[in-house]
Amino acid sequence: MQTHPFSTLNLSTSAIGQHTHYFKSIDSTNRWLREHVAESPHGTVVFAGFQSAGRGRLGRQWVTPPDTALLHSILVKPNWPLTQSGWIVMIAGLAIVETIKEIYGLPARLKWPNDIVIPHAGTLYKVGGILVDTHIEEDQLIDAIIGIGLNLNIPKASLPPTAHLPAGSLLSLSDKETPLAEFAGRSLTRLEAYYERCNRRLSPLASYRNALITLNQAVTISGPSQDEPIWGQAVDVDEWGRLLVQLNDGEIKAIAAGDVTLRPVV
Ligand code: BTN
Repeated sequence: MQTHPFSTLNLSTSAIGQHTHYFKSIDSTNRWLREHVAESPHGTVVFAGFQSAGRGRLGRQWVTPPDTALLHSILVKPNWPLTQSGWIVMIAGLAIVETIKEIYGLPARLKWPNDIVIPHAGTLYKVGGILVDTHIEEDQLIDAIIGIGLNLNIPKASLPPTAHLPAGSLLSLSDKETPLAEFAGRSLTRLEAYYERCNRRLSPLASYRNALITLNQAVTISGPSQDEPIWGQAVDVDEWGRLLVQLNDGEIKAIAAGDVTLRPVV
């Protein structure tokens, strides 16, 4: 059997992480998995030590130094009704923030829709992000590729710049190094537990709401669905994962995608 840095994950799962691939260097694990989706079973995970063309949200690049970040993409084949498609981003984020809390005791949160952030000494640091690529046919979610990049063991001096928030790593915020495979084993186990609940039609929305740092904050939203930035108060999220923003005139707008700036930044 071939071994690689992620071949021993110490999982308690029946599908997620049971098939893995590892690339020391690749363009993008999300891209690779999309190309190989037909022959890859549900639960396949692709890991990389380095990505030369890592993809972030809204067409951005995702760049990290070699072998220090957890870079992986997880394939799920849910066949859920479309009404549950927003749950994927929610459970991916929840699995990561809960694993951070478990290992480091740090108060990790989610900044809508899927930035992994940690408030520390009055500053909010982005330590990771999630990029989900879904395939929908008619009213079914056929598959989803959940791409997760997490700055685990990146030294402070090597942190890449991020779009809105200062970048942080778990190492820079805690002084603790965690083997990438150990973190992955724990977070994939949590992800499968959430996934199984979704299979039983149990919504993760209440937990996602609790993890979001964005709610009850004054926000500015810019991005693909609106020409002009929107100002308002983030009041809730819905089952689709849309952010509900109350505008100054009282109207509530559901935002599906965009960049959120919290005002004032926490
Ligand atoms: C973001 O915050 O913009 C999301 C970043 C997602 C990056 C991960 S790293 C593994 C996977 N492969 C990619 O090309 N992107 C995702």
